[in-house]
Amino acid sequence: MRVLLLGGTSEIGLAVLSALDLAPDAEVILAGRDPQRLEAAGKSLHQSRRGQVTVVRYDAMETGTHQAFAEEVCAGGVPDVVIAATGVLTPQEELERDVRLAAAMIETNFTGHVTVLLAFGAAMRRRGSGTIVVLSSVAAVRPRKFNSVYGATKAALDAFARGYADSLHGTGVRVLLVRPGFVTGKMTAGMKPAPLATTPEGVGAAVARALRSPGKSVVWVPAPLAGLAAVMKLIPRPVWRKLEN
Ligand SMILES: NC(=O)c1ccc[n+]([C@@H]2O[C@H](COP(=O)([O-])OP(=O)(O)OC[C@H]3O[C@@H](n4cnc5c(N)ncnc54)[C@H](OP(=O)(O)O)[C@@H]3O)[C@@H](O)[C@H]2O)c1
Repeated sequence: MRVLLLGGTSEIGLAVLSALDLAPDAEVILAGRDPQRLEAAGKSLHQSRRGQVTVVRYDAMETGTHQAFAEEVCAGGVPDVVIAATGVLTPQEELERDVRLAAAMIETNFTGHVTVLLAFGAAMRRRGSGTIVVLSSVAAVRPRKFNSVYGATKAALDAFARGYADSLHGTGVRVLLVRPGFVTGKMTAGMKPAPLATTPEGVGAAVARALRSPGKSVVWVPAPLAGLAAVMKLIPRPVWRKLEN
């Protein structure tokens, strides 16, 4: 078993890896932009499980390199599971002060996922098996005034993942779309937890459970968030606009 985590230092991604309870002979590949942070993540993972952990350089914004990156990883064996956990949440006021940060967030949260997942998906399709786990968000359901850019990146990623899952249907390749709500951790540090907030471990456990259910294609974390999301879609826009966060 070969598992690739894109965003190799992601708290949620690492919690998913821990929850998967991989066999000692499974190989974990942590892909990311900072070798020191990746090595540290690899060490903490190694303490919680035996087995091989390797780190590779990957930058979500270097989309021109993604085909070659996927080919290089696949040369050692096409991963059985790819977890796409790369993401940034830059405060909207910073994006408005420097619009290049908005472009960087769009590239990291959306474009880079499309390019890298198309490349790994093609390799999995050729082999006839594989699983891609995509970290969307409840923010994809209905963007808020305070996070219109982040929400748009998640809505775009969510739409891509659903369409791509359909195009891979019947090929042996599965896409699991994960929609967490507010997750306490470094990405949300300093923010007030939203209703139904969860933890990286909560997301990890839910993803591991969903992967054991072959028919499952979407997982909300926590599960009751699905109901809240349905209500969120029905709130009239003048009311939605007035909500504080
Ligand atoms: N936290 C939440 O409340 C929440 C809720 C719903 C969905 N999500 C989504 O879940 C995913 C994981 O989030 P998390 O909470 O685990 O956040 P996190 O701990 O901050 O992890 C984000 C990961 O993305 C990586 N990254 C950022 N820019 C990159 C780039 N240009 N190239 C390569 N890697 C890059 C970071 O690497 P570095 O170490 O280099 O920074 C880190 O590994 C994200 O897609 C996020 O949007 C999070």
